Amino acid sequence: MVTKSQNTVLITGCSSGFGRLMTERFLQSGEWKVLATTRHPEQLSDITNDNLVVIPSNVAATSERQAIVARVSEQCKNGLDCLINNAGYGLTGPLEALTEEQIRQQFEVNFFAPLFLTRDLLQQLRIAHGKVINISSVLGFVGMPLQSLYVASKFALEGLSESLAYELNGHGIQVCLVEPGGFRTQFAKNIEWAKEHADKGSVDVYEKQMKGYRAFLTKKLERPGSNPKKVADAVFDLAGKNSMPLRLRVGSDTQALYYMRRSLPQKMTDLILLNVSKKLMATK
Ligand SMILES: NC(=O)c1ccc[n+]([C@@H]2O[C@H](COP(=O)([O-])OP(=O)(O)OC[C@H]3O[C@@H](n4cnc5c(N)ncnc54)[C@H](OP(=O)(O)O)[C@@H]3O)[C@@H](O)[C@H]2O)c1
Repeated sequence: MVTKSQNTVLITGCSSGFGRLMTERFLQSGEWKVLATTRHPEQLSDITNDNLVVIPSNVAATSERQAIVARVSEQCKNGLDCLINNAGYGLTGPLEALTEEQIRQQFEVNFFAPLFLTRDLLQQLRIAHGKVINISSVLGFVGMPLQSLYVASKFALEGLSESLAYELNGHGIQVCLVEPGGFRTQFAKNIEWAKEHADKGSVDVYEKQMKGYRAFLTKKLERPGSNPKKVADAVFDLAGKNSMPLRLRVGSDTQALYYMRRSLPQKMTDLILLNVSKKLMATK
Protein backbone atom coordinates (compact mmCIF):
# COMPACT_ATOMS: atom_id res chain seq x y z
CA MET A 1 0.00 0.00 0.00
CA VAL A 2 1.49 3.35 -1.00
CA THR A 3 0.37 6.43 0.91
CA LYS A 4 0.38 9.85 -0.77
CA SER A 5 3.28 11.19 1.26
CA GLN A 6 5.43 8.14 0.62
CA ASN A 7 8.74 8.58 -1.15
CA THR A 8 10.42 6.05 -3.40
CA VAL A 9 14.02 4.87 -3.27
CA LEU A 10 15.85 2.57 -5.65
CA ILE A 11 18.75 0.69 -4.05
CA THR A 12 21.12 -1.55 -6.02
CA GLY A 13 22.79 -4.74 -4.76
CA CYS A 14 20.45 -5.60 -1.88
CA SER A 15 21.09 -9.28 -1.13
CA SER A 16 23.69 -8.55 1.55
CA GLY A 17 25.70 -5.91 3.41
CA PHE A 18 24.81 -2.24 3.23
CA GLY A 19 22.20 -2.88 0.51
CA ARG A 20 20.23 -5.32 2.62
CA LEU A 21 20.51 -3.13 5.74
CA MET A 22 19.46 0.01 3.88
CA THR A 23 16.46 -1.86 2.48
CA GLU A 24 15.45 -2.82 6.02
CA ARG A 25 16.09 0.67 7.39
CA PHE A 26 14.00 2.47 4.76
CA LEU A 27 11.14 -0.03 5.11
CA GLN A 28 11.22 0.21 8.90
CA SER A 29 10.43 3.93 8.69
CA GLY A 30 7.16 3.25 6.89
CA GLU A 31 7.79 6.43 4.90
CA TRP A 32 9.48 4.88 1.92
CA LYS A 33 8.64 2.48 -0.85
CA VAL A 34 11.82 0.53 -1.64
CA LEU A 35 12.71 -0.79 -5.07
CA ALA A 36 15.56 -3.21 -4.41
CA THR A 37 17.67 -4.69 -7.19
CA THR A 38 19.46 -7.96 -6.62
CA ARG A 39 20.86 -10.93 -8.51
CA HIS A 40 19.63 -13.13 -5.67
CA PRO A 41 15.95 -12.29 -5.00
CA GLU A 42 15.58 -15.39 -2.82
CA GLN A 43 17.80 -13.71 -0.25
CA LEU A 44 15.17 -11.03 0.30
CA SER A 45 12.25 -13.47 0.50
CA ASP A 46 12.17 -13.29 4.32
CA ILE A 47 11.21 -9.60 4.17
CA THR A 48 7.44 -9.39 3.96
CA ASN A 49 6.50 -5.78 3.47
CA ASP A 50 4.02 -4.32 0.98
CA ASN A 51 6.37 -1.40 0.43
CA LEU A 52 9.15 -3.61 -0.95
CA VAL A 53 9.44 -4.23 -4.68
CA VAL A 54 12.28 -6.64 -5.47
CA ILE A 55 13.71 -6.26 -8.96
CA PRO A 56 15.73 -9.36 -9.85
CA SER A 57 18.58 -8.03 -11.96
CA ASN A 58 22.27 -7.56 -12.42
CA VAL A 59 23.08 -3.84 -12.61
CA ALA A 60 26.16 -4.57 -14.69
CA ALA A 61 24.10 -5.84 -17.67
CA THR A 62 22.73 -3.21 -20.09
CA SER A 63 19.46 -5.02 -20.83
CA GLU A 64 18.81 -5.63 -17.14
CA ARG A 65 19.44 -1.97 -16.36
CA GLN A 66 16.89 -1.05 -19.02
CA ALA A 67 14.40 -3.34 -17.28
CA ILE A 68 15.15 -1.59 -13.94
CA VAL A 69 14.48 1.82 -15.52
CA ALA A 70 11.19 0.51 -16.95
CA ARG A 71 10.13 -0.79 -13.51
CA VAL A 72 10.94 2.60 -11.98
CA SER A 73 8.73 4.41 -14.53
CA GLU A 74 5.96 1.94 -13.83
CA GLN A 75 6.27 2.17 -10.02
CA CYS A 76 7.06 5.86 -9.57
CA LYS A 77 4.29 7.93 -11.09
CA ASN A 78 5.56 11.02 -9.24
CA GLY A 79 9.19 10.48 -10.13
CA LEU A 80 12.05 8.87 -8.20
CA ASP A 81 12.99 10.48 -4.88
CA CYS A 82 16.28 8.72 -4.32
CA LEU A 83 18.71 6.50 -6.22
CA ILE A 84 21.32 4.67 -4.15
CA ASN A 85 24.10 3.18 -6.26
CA ASN A 86 25.41 0.62 -3.80
CA ALA A 87 26.30 -2.59 -5.69
CA GLY A 88 30.03 -3.15 -5.83
CA TYR A 89 32.86 -5.55 -5.11
CA GLY A 90 36.62 -5.55 -4.70
CA LEU A 91 39.00 -6.97 -7.26
CA THR A 92 42.24 -7.80 -5.50
CA GLY A 93 45.71 -8.59 -6.75
CA PRO A 94 48.70 -7.05 -8.52
CA LEU A 95 47.87 -5.29 -11.79
CA GLU A 96 50.06 -7.70 -13.75
CA ALA A 97 48.01 -10.66 -12.54
CA LEU A 98 44.60 -9.24 -13.42
CA THR A 99 43.00 -10.38 -16.67
CA GLU A 100 41.49 -7.85 -19.06
CA GLU A 101 38.06 -9.35 -18.38
CA GLN A 102 38.48 -8.91 -14.62
CA ILE A 103 39.61 -5.32 -15.07
CA ARG A 104 36.70 -4.40 -17.33
CA GLN A 105 34.17 -6.17 -15.12
CA GLN A 106 35.37 -4.24 -12.06
CA PHE A 107 34.55 -1.00 -13.87
CA GLU A 108 31.28 -2.38 -15.27
CA VAL A 109 29.93 -3.03 -11.77
CA ASN A 110 31.53 -0.26 -9.70
CA PHE A 111 31.57 2.57 -12.23
CA PHE A 112 29.58 2.03 -15.44
CA ALA A 113 26.52 0.57 -13.69
CA PRO A 114 26.03 3.63 -11.44
CA LEU A 115 26.91 5.95 -14.34
CA PHE A 116 24.32 4.53 -16.77
CA LEU A 117 21.67 3.96 -14.13
CA THR A 118 22.00 7.58 -13.03
CA ARG A 119 21.93 8.84 -16.63
CA ASP A 120 18.87 6.80 -17.50
CA LEU A 121 16.96 7.78 -14.36
CA LEU A 122 17.64 11.52 -14.48
CA GLN A 123 14.25 12.25 -16.00
CA GLN A 124 12.52 10.44 -13.10
CA LEU A 125 14.80 12.12 -10.57
CA ARG A 126 14.15 15.55 -12.04
CA ILE A 127 10.38 15.10 -11.66
CA ALA A 128 10.75 14.39 -7.94
CA HIS A 129 13.67 16.78 -7.27
CA GLY A 130 15.43 13.60 -6.23
CA LYS A 131 18.73 12.60 -4.73
CA VAL A 132 21.57 10.39 -5.97
CA ILE A 133 23.65 8.72 -3.26
CA ASN A 134 26.71 6.93 -4.56
CA ILE A 135 28.45 4.48 -2.22
CA SER A 136 32.13 5.21 -2.68
CA SER A 137 34.78 4.28 -0.10
CA VAL A 138 37.72 5.50 1.93
CA LEU A 139 39.50 4.03 -1.11
CA GLY A 140 37.75 6.71 -3.16
CA PHE A 141 40.34 9.18 -1.91
CA VAL A 142 43.31 7.04 -0.76
CA GLY A 143 45.26 4.50 -2.84
CA MET A 144 46.03 0.97 -1.70
CA PRO A 145 48.38 -1.71 -3.02
CA LEU A 146 46.82 -4.82 -4.59
CA GLN A 147 43.53 -2.90 -4.85
CA SER A 148 44.46 -0.64 -7.75
CA LEU A 149 41.40 -1.44 -9.87
CA TYR A 150 38.93 -1.21 -7.00
CA VAL A 151 40.51 2.09 -5.98
CA ALA A 152 40.48 3.34 -9.59
CA SER A 153 36.78 2.48 -9.94
CA LYS A 154 35.94 4.43 -6.75
CA PHE A 155 38.14 7.41 -7.72
CA ALA A 156 36.27 7.44 -11.05
CA LEU A 157 32.95 7.37 -9.20
CA GLU A 158 34.15 10.30 -7.09
CA GLY A 159 35.02 12.39 -10.15
CA LEU A 160 31.75 11.55 -11.85
CA SER A 161 29.66 12.32 -8.77
CA GLU A 162 31.42 15.57 -7.91
CA SER A 163 30.95 16.85 -11.47
CA LEU A 164 27.32 15.74 -11.58
CA ALA A 165 26.62 17.46 -8.26
CA TYR A 166 27.55 20.77 -9.93
CA GLU A 167 25.89 19.90 -13.25
CA LEU A 168 22.56 18.88 -11.71
CA ASN A 169 22.37 21.50 -8.99
CA GLY A 170 20.25 23.80 -11.14
CA HIS A 171 17.90 20.92 -11.95
CA GLY A 172 16.89 20.26 -8.35
CA ILE A 173 18.83 16.98 -8.17
CA GLN A 174 21.39 16.54 -5.39
CA VAL A 175 24.33 14.14 -5.47
CA CYS A 176 26.23 12.78 -2.46
CA LEU A 177 29.21 10.46 -2.11
CA VAL A 178 29.22 8.22 0.96
CA GLU A 179 32.76 7.15 1.85
CA PRO A 180 32.62 4.30 4.38
CA GLY A 181 35.73 2.93 6.05
CA GLY A 182 35.95 -0.80 6.79
CA PHE A 183 32.67 -2.44 7.89
CA ARG A 184 31.79 -6.08 8.45
CA THR A 185 29.61 -7.03 5.46
CA GLN A 186 30.02 -9.80 2.88
CA PHE A 187 32.55 -7.58 1.08
CA ALA A 188 35.67 -9.54 2.15
CA LYS A 189 34.01 -12.86 1.33
CA ASN A 190 33.01 -11.54 -2.10
CA ILE A 191 36.50 -10.35 -3.04
CA GLU A 192 37.53 -11.47 -6.50
CA TRP A 193 41.17 -12.47 -6.57
CA ALA A 194 43.55 -12.01 -9.49
CA LYS A 195 43.21 -14.94 -11.88
CA GLU A 196 46.70 -15.04 -13.22
CA HIS A 197 48.47 -15.02 -9.91
CA ALA A 198 51.09 -17.75 -9.87
CA ASP A 199 50.10 -18.90 -13.39
CA LYS A 200 52.65 -16.60 -14.97
CA GLY A 201 56.32 -16.47 -14.19
CA SER A 202 56.31 -12.68 -14.07
CA VAL A 203 53.68 -12.53 -11.33
CA ASP A 204 55.49 -14.90 -9.01
CA VAL A 205 57.41 -11.86 -7.83
CA TYR A 206 54.27 -10.72 -6.01
CA GLU A 207 53.82 -13.98 -4.15
CA LYS A 208 55.25 -12.66 -0.90
CA GLN A 209 53.14 -9.49 -1.02
CA MET A 210 49.97 -11.49 -1.75
CA LYS A 211 50.73 -13.90 1.08
CA GLY A 212 51.21 -10.99 3.47
CA TYR A 213 48.03 -9.33 2.29
CA ARG A 214 45.96 -12.50 2.67
CA ALA A 215 47.34 -12.94 6.20
CA PHE A 216 46.42 -9.33 7.01
CA LEU A 217 42.89 -9.90 5.69
CA THR A 218 42.46 -13.14 7.67
CA LYS A 219 43.64 -11.43 10.86
CA LYS A 220 41.33 -8.50 10.21
CA LEU A 221 38.35 -10.81 9.76
CA GLU A 222 39.10 -12.55 13.06
CA ARG A 223 38.61 -9.25 14.90
CA PRO A 224 35.13 -7.88 15.55
CA GLY A 225 34.32 -5.47 12.74
CA SER A 226 32.44 -2.20 12.72
CA ASN A 227 28.67 -2.51 12.58
CA PRO A 228 27.47 -1.81 9.00
CA LYS A 229 24.12 -0.57 10.36
CA LYS A 230 25.93 2.70 10.99
CA VAL A 231 26.26 3.18 7.23
CA ALA A 232 22.64 2.19 6.57
CA ASP A 233 21.45 4.69 9.21
CA ALA A 234 23.67 7.45 7.82
CA VAL A 235 22.37 6.90 4.27
CA PHE A 236 18.78 6.81 5.51
CA ASP A 237 19.30 10.16 7.29
CA LEU A 238 20.86 11.66 4.15
CA ALA A 239 17.91 10.63 2.01
CA GLY A 240 15.53 12.46 4.35
CA LYS A 241 17.53 15.70 4.53
CA ASN A 242 16.51 18.84 2.67
CA SER A 243 20.10 19.41 1.73
CA MET A 244 22.85 16.76 1.43
CA PRO A 245 26.59 17.43 1.69
CA LEU A 246 28.64 16.43 -1.35
CA ARG A 247 30.59 13.90 0.73
CA LEU A 248 29.86 11.97 3.91
CA ARG A 249 32.53 9.84 5.58
CA VAL A 250 31.30 7.07 7.88
CA GLY A 251 33.77 5.34 10.22
CA SER A 252 36.73 6.44 12.31
CA ASP A 253 39.32 5.04 9.84
CA THR A 254 37.97 7.03 6.91
CA GLN A 255 37.74 10.17 9.09
CA ALA A 256 41.36 9.75 10.25
CA LEU A 257 42.69 9.23 6.73
CA TYR A 258 40.74 12.23 5.44
CA TYR A 259 42.05 14.38 8.26
CA MET A 260 45.60 13.21 7.53
CA ARG A 261 45.21 14.00 3.82
CA ARG A 262 43.86 17.46 4.59
CA SER A 263 46.19 18.52 7.35
CA LEU A 264 49.65 16.98 6.73
CA PRO A 265 52.04 18.02 3.99
CA GLN A 266 51.70 15.82 0.90
CA LYS A 267 55.23 14.40 1.30
CA MET A 268 54.55 13.27 4.85
CA THR A 269 51.18 11.70 3.95
CA ASP A 270 52.75 9.80 1.05
CA LEU A 271 55.46 8.46 3.35
CA ILE A 272 52.95 7.35 5.98
CA LEU A 273 50.75 5.64 3.38
CA LEU A 274 53.77 3.93 1.82
CA ASN A 275 54.77 2.52 5.21
CA VAL A 276 51.21 1.38 5.97
CA SER A 277 51.11 -0.32 2.55
CA LYS A 278 54.35 -2.14 3.27
CA LYS A 279 52.96 -3.36 6.58
CA LEU A 280 49.77 -4.63 4.93
CA MET A 281 51.81 -6.85 2.64
CA ALA A 282 54.54 -7.86 5.07
CA THR A 283 55.07 -11.53 5.84
CA LYS A 284 56.23 -12.19 9.38
N1 LIG B 1 32.15 -3.19 3.61
C1 LIG B 1 33.04 -2.24 3.55
O1 LIG B 1 33.95 -2.17 4.41
C2 LIG B 1 32.97 -1.17 2.48
C3 LIG B 1 33.79 -0.04 2.64
C4 LIG B 1 33.73 0.96 1.69
C5 LIG B 1 32.87 0.85 0.61
N2 LIG B 1 32.09 -0.25 0.47
C6 LIG B 1 31.16 -0.29 -0.69
O2 LIG B 1 29.85 -0.56 -0.23
C7 LIG B 1 29.08 -1.14 -1.28
C8 LIG B 1 28.34 -2.34 -0.73
O3 LIG B 1 29.27 -3.34 -0.32
P1 LIG B 1 29.08 -4.22 0.99
O4 LIG B 1 30.18 -3.89 1.91
O5 LIG B 1 27.71 -4.15 1.46
O6 LIG B 1 29.44 -5.67 0.41
P2 LIG B 1 28.54 -6.94 0.10
O7 LIG B 1 27.89 -7.44 1.33
O8 LIG B 1 29.42 -7.88 -0.66
O9 LIG B 1 27.39 -6.39 -0.86
C9 LIG B 1 27.69 -5.90 -2.14
C10 LIG B 1 26.48 -6.03 -3.06
O10 LIG B 1 26.88 -5.61 -4.36
C11 LIG B 1 26.37 -6.46 -5.35
N3 LIG B 1 27.46 -7.04 -6.16
C12 LIG B 1 28.61 -7.57 -5.70
N4 LIG B 1 29.34 -8.07 -6.72
C13 LIG B 1 28.62 -7.85 -7.84
C14 LIG B 1 28.84 -8.15 -9.21
N5 LIG B 1 29.93 -8.78 -9.64
N6 LIG B 1 27.88 -7.81 -10.09
C15 LIG B 1 26.75 -7.17 -9.69
N7 LIG B 1 26.49 -6.87 -8.38
C16 LIG B 1 27.42 -7.20 -7.48
C17 LIG B 1 25.66 -7.61 -4.65
O11 LIG B 1 24.27 -7.44 -4.83
P3 LIG B 1 23.27 -8.64 -5.29
O12 LIG B 1 23.94 -9.93 -4.96
O13 LIG B 1 22.10 -8.37 -4.45
O14 LIG B 1 23.05 -8.42 -6.73
C18 LIG B 1 26.01 -7.46 -3.19
O15 LIG B 1 24.91 -7.67 -2.36
C19 LIG B 1 30.06 -1.46 -2.39
O16 LIG B 1 29.97 -0.49 -3.40
C20 LIG B 1 31.43 -1.36 -1.71
O17 LIG B 1 32.43 -1.01 -2.61
C21 LIG B 1 32.13 -1.26 1.38
